[in-house]
Amino acid sequence: MDLELSSPVKVEIDRLNEEAYCTLINAVGWEQRSRKDARQLLANALVTVVATSAGIVVGMGRASGDGRSYAHVSDIAVDPAFQGQQIGAALVQTLLDELDRLSGSCITVTLNATAENAGFYERFGFVMSETPNFLVRPGRSAAL
Ligand SMILES: CC(C)(COP(=O)(O)OP(=O)(O)OC[C@H]1O[C@@H](n2cnc3c(N)ncnc32)[C@H](O)[C@@H]1OP(=O)(O)O)[C@@H](O)C(=O)NCCC(=O)NCCS
Repeated sequence: MDLELSSPVKVEIDRLNEEAYCTLINAVGWEQRSRKDARQLLANALVTVVATSAGIVVGMGRASGDGRSYAHVSDIAVDPAFQGQQIGAALVQTLLDELDRLSGSCITVTLNATAENAGFYERFGFVMSETPNFLVRPGRSAAL
């Protein structure tokens, strides 16, 4: 995919910190997470990505998993003031490229998307799962 970011926007791997994480969760209106939760999520991430514009954090994402056979992508978020500038696409593509690099391209990647965002992920090869024998046990309280 050919992604054209406006020049000041930079996407980096494994530079997302808990402060930026909590700021972006707030910016997109998701339920706030504690610093402790944020620290744990980031410490256990396989890969994180962060987008900055002139030093300001404008987007993020993370993937967890074993780095070889499976990964789960979460928390893809772009500050509303910066949406529609290919930043979300650059974050997802960078995460997927890094997961492919780590796994020799043999990794299966999953994610949860709302119906209105499914089309965004389909651009990267994701399809709504109809996989037989694929079972899910959702968390009993709010998902992170
Ligand atoms: C979803 C989100 C990450 C997209 O980021 P973004 O930077 O605004 O999107 P981009 O500019 O990179 O979009 C890239 C392309 O995908 C398209 N696109 C963006 N959002 C889309 C959606 N919800 N459904 C279908 N296509 C979408 C864009 O139109 C663009 O198409 P183009 O290349 O033909 O112009 C962003 O809107 C966001 O952070 N939303 C709030 C948090 C959220 O819901 N995250 C997803 C959790 S499932």
